[in-house]
Amino acid sequence: MKGWMGKIRSLFVLSLLSVILSGCGKENLTAFAPKGYGAEVSLDLIIWSFLIMLFVFIVVMVIFTIVLIRFRRKKGQEDFIPQQTEGSKALEIIWTIIPIILLVLIAVPTVAATFDLADESDKGDALNINVTGNQFWWHFNYEGHDIQTSTDVYIPVGEKVYLNMMSSDVIHSFWVPTISGKMDTNPENENTMYIEAHEEGIYEGKCAEYCGPSHSLMDFKIIAVSPEEFDQWVSDMQNVTADATPETASAQEGQDLFEQSCLSCHAIGSSPAAVGPNLTNFGDRTEIAGIIEDYTKEDLVDWIKAPEEFKPGNKMTETAPYLQEENPGLTDEEVSKIADYLLQLKPSEVTPESALN
Ligand code: CUA
Repeated sequence: MKGWMGKIRSLFVLSLLSVILSGCGKENLTAFAPKGYGAEVSLDLIIWSFLIMLFVFIVVMVIFTIVLIRFRRKKGQEDFIPQQTEGSKALEIIWTIIPIILLVLIAVPTVAATFDLADESDKGDALNINVTGNQFWWHFNYEGHDIQTSTDVYIPVGEKVYLNMMSSDVIHSFWVPTISGKMDTNPENENTMYIEAHEEGIYEGKCAEYCGPSHSLMDFKIIAVSPEEFDQWVSDMQNVTADATPETASAQEGQDLFEQSCLSCHAIGSSPAAVGPNLTNFGDRTEIAGIIEDYTKEDLVDWIKAPEEFKPGNKMTETAPYLQEENPGLTDEEVSKIADYLLQLKPSEVTPESALN
């Protein structure tokens, strides 16, 4: 009796979990509502494979039910032995050929889609973005455009964009489920994938390969805007100068502090950052650290003061000079000024908002 209760209880907890967890996630973080070419192709394959599996399931269940009802042991037949069919050549051939046919039906479109998605024939003419996975953030370098950025990657809607992907440390996996399938980023060899968004919008991305304690916190976004807006964004980003003077006195002091305390790892403008994320359009981002949404200045201050509390294992904690015990830290006032400086880094009218209008 006790065993039964335990089983029922586990079943109850499992079903409750599946109901609760199915509510997790965000809009635009699902492979079942594709908004890009790669995601559409993948969903077609998922549905096709599912239909074939459903067909097999139904056929097996129908035969099973018929056998169960028709061939029950009847009264008075206790000693009856049915016809033995072991070693039947016909049966062996049938149940070898049927699975082969089913596998071919799945394999042909899958292999075709694989070649289609790996086609790089127009790579030279398309926009190429070099993507680098890092513990625990993403770097984007627009080839030939002199633009470096992190976390938010802007692309023109309806155009093929090639992503050339590597990692600076361990293996990560670039995944924006509404736009395309997953692609690993490796430290030693480059993987290429193209993406194409059919509609303007903000598409959530996740790292899909366990890469350390903050693996689940290295979120990023594809922001698909109209081609005109994209050109505008490119020219705005190209015109950023790292030493432009901020408007307010507090932000100006913040800029000096940022240069002393943060610029050895981060970068503003097109110079590649050595270790940390490029912050050129920081003020336009909808998330800080790739994970803190709808943030206020207080959140940003908290993050700068104690990044480890938000993103365990991040490199800022171990490398930022002001976070090391042996160095004098930053006062609350100084951190607040750095936050003022960062929040006014808004180089373009084209922001994530633009993708929603
Ligand atoms: Cu990067 Cu998981």
